[in-house]
Amino acid sequence: MIRVERITRRYGPTLAVDGLSFHVERGEIVGFLGPNGAGKSTTMRMLTGYLAADEGRAEVAGTDVALDPVAVRRRVGYLPESNPLYLDMTVQRFLEFAASVRGVERGKRKAAVDRAAQAAGLRAVIGKGISELSKGYRQRVGLAQALVHDPDLLILDEPTAGLDPNQIPEIRDLLLRLGQEKKTVLLSTHILQEVPAVCSRVIIVAKGRKVADGRLGELLRRDGTVRAAVAGIDAGVAEAALAALPGVSVRSKTTHDGRHRFELSGPPGDDLCERIGAALIERGGRICELVREAESLEECFRRFTLGEGAAAGGVR
Ligand SMILES: Nc1ncnc2c1ncn2[C@@H]1O[C@H](COP(=O)(O)OP(=O)(O)OP(=O)(O)O)[C@@H](O)[C@H]1O
Ligand SMILES: [Mg+2]
Repeated sequence: MIRVERITRRYGPTLAVDGLSFHVERGEIVGFLGPNGAGKSTTMRMLTGYLAADEGRAEVAGTDVALDPVAVRRRVGYLPESNPLYLDMTVQRFLEFAASVRGVERGKRKAAVDRAAQAAGLRAVIGKGISELSKGYRQRVGLAQALVHDPDLLILDEPTAGLDPNQIPEIRDLLLRLGQEKKTVLLSTHILQEVPAVCSRVIIVAKGRKVADGRLGELLRRDGTVRAAVAGIDAGVAEAALAALPGVSVRSKTTHDGRHRFELSGPPGDDLCERIGAALIERGGRICELVREAESLEECFRRFTLGEGAAAGGVR
């Protein structure tokens, strides 16, 4: 659905996007993440034909964007970062206008507007002037205009920006519904908590370059913390057994109701929990809990965007 090959964009001396390549297949919901100024919005503007690439090429919905940007815009729903709206129009009028610009036939426009307004939670304000709306509702109008022509591909630049915490789950549900309808979505966001629930894959960019690309399960490092609880064994014996394991260190220990809880850190490798469990059982312990926590998406984001470990995999 999206094929980006080494696109580059400069603003004067600033290299905003630097030889970026990635693919998005039909039906994927991909989180496009990166620090402020990483080049996300610039990339999205190039994908939707609002900005020309200096180098490289982008094919969106089967069309080379540079050759036919108008055709691309009809196939794609785009919520720009700046979310430009006609403030003197009502929501209804604006969405009808958006439908006509995107080529929805006159006889089908009313139904298209109703459907988009419903999906974006705008039914209650459909007759209001856009200038009267709060920032969060304006953001919904931006989303509705992206949906109005029922495109197969949505490119959404921070769709949850300006929404209050109660509204964010509604947008998450909307994105999940789009996924069920087999739509393809590329969305940028700084609200990382929402990403695992919605995105099947993430692409992380920094300084205009791709630094990570993969499913979250692949990107999140699993050499973080192990929590173990054991009973039926002396605490000192258990600790000595754990500390003797190569590469394992005991970060903390507590005892409650005869259970000794340990927080451990250990080296990468899938067998870490197995080794910890085996060592405790060998000393006569009963395992009550044994879990390995993957790093959080926030930690993963920091690792890739601040450099540490950025070269150690993830880019494909
Ligand atoms: N119109 C412009 N003129 C000059 N420089 C620009 C312009 N738009 C973006 N830039 C620069 O290009 C770089 C990438 O900006 P871009 O807006 O694409 O980043 P972003 O990843 O969307 O950031 P944010 O998370 O803050 O939205 C930044 O250094 C920015 O200052
Ligand atoms: Mg941006």
